[in-house]
Amino acid sequence: MIKVLVTGANGQLGQSLASLSKKFDGILIFADRNDLDINDRGSIKSSLLTNKPDYIINCAAYTAVDNAEKDKEEAFKINKDGLINLIEESEELQCRIIHISTDYVFDGKHSIPYREDDIINPQSVYGHSKADGEKALLAFAPSRSIIIRTSWLYSEFGHNFLKTMLRLGKEKGSLNVVNDQLGIPTYTHDLANAILQLISTNIHIDSEKNIFHFSNSGESNWYEFAKEIMRVAELNCQIHPIPTSSFPTLAQRPKFSILNSEKIENLLNIKIRPWQDALRECIDTIKKA
Ligand SMILES: NC(=O)c1ccc[n+]([C@@H]2O[C@H](COP(=O)([O-])OP(=O)(O)OC[C@H]3O[C@@H](n4cnc5c(N)ncnc54)[C@H](OP(=O)(O)O)[C@@H]3O)[C@@H](O)[C@H]2O)c1
Repeated sequence: MIKVLVTGANGQLGQSLASLSKKFDGILIFADRNDLDINDRGSIKSSLLTNKPDYIINCAAYTAVDNAEKDKEEAFKINKDGLINLIEESEELQCRIIHISTDYVFDGKHSIPYREDDIINPQSVYGHSKADGEKALLAFAPSRSIIIRTSWLYSEFGHNFLKTMLRLGKEKGSLNVVNDQLGIPTYTHDLANAILQLISTNIHIDSEKNIFHFSNSGESNWYEFAKEIMRVAELNCQIHPIPTSSFPTLAQRPKFSILNSEKIENLLNIKIRPWQDALRECIDTIKKA
């Protein structure tokens, strides 16, 4: 039976993978930072020795996009050096690594959805640290690694834009939200499902072609996303559009980071659902809890 080790198991994606455990025809082993710290080679070594996985899904990451601007060393330590530790420590076992990357590796100058082979040109420290992680994988373990770039993750778990909007929507009568950054909100449940399907297909890894994009379908901006959240959650909070220039943040975000997910759809023979449908399911799940 196929054995899969999930790092960063306490994060949003890690918890979504855990919620799908029963459906997966294999063994999923979940390791949070205490069980396996990707910056501690000893802890990686002992986890790999004990678990002997066929796959590692690396959900461990530094994801605080704005904080990374002040905390560059920590962002690179986790998103680049930690990944190199995983690559090197798993060399002997030769297990496959599925690594999650981001739309923020692109500069946002496109006007059509980004494809896997488009040139990356990150604009923020976070984006740079994730891009360096991608490069390390492609340089040191091309024949056993798969990179999945995704965008604007949210879920019922942890902290994310959806949960912030649900909280603010109850506290405030109106909110200003930026409308000039285009991207696609993605439910970690849908991403987790696709990752497990990818493992089940046991695909041949071609060193040139092991990057995939996965986002829910459609397109949006933060203002539209916030409006839809208020509508679906039936919160009486007016959302007003503002330009990014009126809401300065430490990190520069791409103006356009819509990902084209056709490649993974074709590989898995799936049609990824629209972001609005996924959002409705997530809000229902939160309400039930
Ligand atoms: N969130 C987004 O909008 C977004 C968008 C595009 C791509 N991504 C990528 O998608 C992946 C999953 O994101 P997510 O939202 O699920 O992230 P998340 O909720 O922030 O979870 C990241 C997890 O990594 C753990 N971690 C940090 N440093 C670690 C270390 N040295 N060793 C082991 N674990 C460590 C964290 O542990 P602690 O809880 O102890 O800190 C946390 O549980 C990441 O690679 C991220 O870059 C995210």
